[in-house]
Amino acid sequence: MPKAKAILFDLDGVLTDTSEYHYRAWKQLADEEGIPLTREENDAHLRGVGRRDSLMYIIRGRQYSEDKIQEMMKRKNDYYNKLIEQMSPKEVVAGGRELLQEIRQAGLKSAVASASKNCRIVLERLQIIDLFDGIADGNSVVNGKPAPDIFVFAAGLVQTSVIDCIGVEDADAGIEAIKTAGMYALGVGPKERFKRADKVVPTMENIRLKDILADA
Ligand code: G6P
Ligand code: MG
Repeated sequence: MPKAKAILFDLDGVLTDTSEYHYRAWKQLADEEGIPLTREENDAHLRGVGRRDSLMYIIRGRQYSEDKIQEMMKRKNDYYNKLIEQMSPKEVVAGGRELLQEIRQAGLKSAVASASKNCRIVLERLQIIDLFDGIADGNSVVNGKPAPDIFVFAAGLVQTSVIDCIGVEDADAGIEAIKTAGMYALGVGPKERFKRADKVVPTMENIRLKDILADA
């Protein structure tokens, strides 16, 4: 690909470990409803997936009214909000703030492409909101990951063609979204998690711009 001009980051599980809080909130709900939910299922089916689609996976095969579905989504979100209440700038992944500053200094654009409607609250708590040129969140598009929409929207926010963007994701659904959008995809997590990532790093901890740009 030509030299990258923008880097588009997923939030939960990439820039901070809120994917753990999403899991704990779903787990509490599932326990209360007597529905089995394991960490492995979470990683394989819920990571990066929107609120309603996540609940649909958890309750699959069971019949619930729309009112009950709405109540369960709200309950999970209340648990999640309780968990993120205490978040502080310390919860940015190690080296994350420096990476974002480095991107800016290098004259590249950066944006967030998160499926979460809580994205802005988390960015505010982490105090990194000003380090991005654009924020695409759970309110931005209708079709969630693995649809490419959120990454295409984020590319538009930073005035960059998809071909010049690198997307960074911890979820396979997110890597699918990035590849379908026509971008270079950097996966964060175990190699086995991703089918179509162009490159994989085990963690974002202390990742520098040169690590992202190498081979891109
Ligand atoms: C992100 C997380 C998912 C979460 C989704 C919706 O993609 O990785 O775990 O389900 O956002 O988040 P929300 O905060 O709107 O429920
Ligand atoms: Mg994620």
